[in-house]
Amino acid sequence: MASTEPTPIVLGEEHLSDLLALTVGAGWNQTEDDCRLFLRQGTVFGRQADGRVVASAALLPYRDGGFAWVSLVLVAPEWRRRGLATALVGECLDLARRLGLVPLLDATPDGAKVYGPLGFETMFALSRWTRPPVGTAAEVEPGDPTGLAALIEADGLAMGADRGFLLRDFASRPTARTIWCGTHGGGAGAILRPGRLGSHLGPLAGSDEAAAIAVLEKAAASAGSIVVDVVDRWTGLTDALVRLGFRQQRPFLRMVGSPDAVFGDPDRLFLAAGPEYG
Ligand SMILES: CC(C)(COP(=O)(O)OP(=O)(O)OC[C@H]1O[C@@H](n2cnc3c(N)ncnc32)[C@H](O)[C@@H]1OP(=O)(O)O)[C@@H](O)C(=O)NCCC(=O)NCCS
Repeated sequence: MASTEPTPIVLGEEHLSDLLALTVGAGWNQTEDDCRLFLRQGTVFGRQADGRVVASAALLPYRDGGFAWVSLVLVAPEWRRRGLATALVGECLDLARRLGLVPLLDATPDGAKVYGPLGFETMFALSRWTRPPVGTAAEVEPGDPTGLAALIEADGLAMGADRGFLLRDFASRPTARTIWCGTHGGGAGAILRPGRLGSHLGPLAGSDEAAAIAVLEKAAASAGSIVVDVVDRWTGLTDALVRLGFRQQRPFLRMVGSPDAVFGDPDRLFLAAGPEYG
């Protein structure tokens, strides 16, 4: 068991490898690009002991929507059950309050045990699904550069915030692809971006479930492993995941720190950008 008291810090880019190591230790899918984005665009609180970061929690503001995402809540195994996550999330909540933003997050089952006592309430359930690499893939269509603007707009309607800075960052990553399927009534789109364990498909937002399924089918033509976080209420989409060889891995709960707050249009949100982004 670890003994000395860890020191509070705010992480900078010099802590990139420590932050990535915490995500790897938890078996998560983030890459260096994800950790860098949080260090640049958000605030990452931490605890340091023996020259390394042993715990973290981040706040990523979506100022335009009036809310901020609490994420990367990670405590090294030997430092757990000492109140570090509770203290670090408390620091995120204080900052959100100062910025006038409502805190939101996607919780793992362990995380939900920390957030409930801090006043978070459940909005809806999501599930992580993964598909292993496939031997022979259909020919993959090239990404759709014009689809990015349509996706930023669709995501903005779904989430209630312009997340252009985030989606443009995803789309600029090596091998990332933007997929857009237009329909008469609108359409849906998503970004498939590289992850440490598998490519992450999301956010997937748009006008209807049929268009969302068309986007999923296009993405599933890729040969590599794919990770998605689907909103559980979309049964047609989950049927399509099963048909395309995905397997359900673990549940998440979307939780909000202010019960009366309403954001975006849940009828337009199909796959999250990832639990760390919402
Ligand atoms: C979840 C996690 C961040 C908790 O960190 P932590 O520093 O141990 O949490 P705290 O000490 O602040 O826990 C506060 C309370 O939450 C509850 N709790 C925390 N972890 C729990 C667990 N694994 N099982 C049951 N209750 C738990 C307990 O009530 C605990 O109080 P107690 O120790 O006095 O009983 C840590 O286990 C972790 O890093 N897990 C892997 C990554 C992860 O799932 N992160 C959450 C992302 S949403």
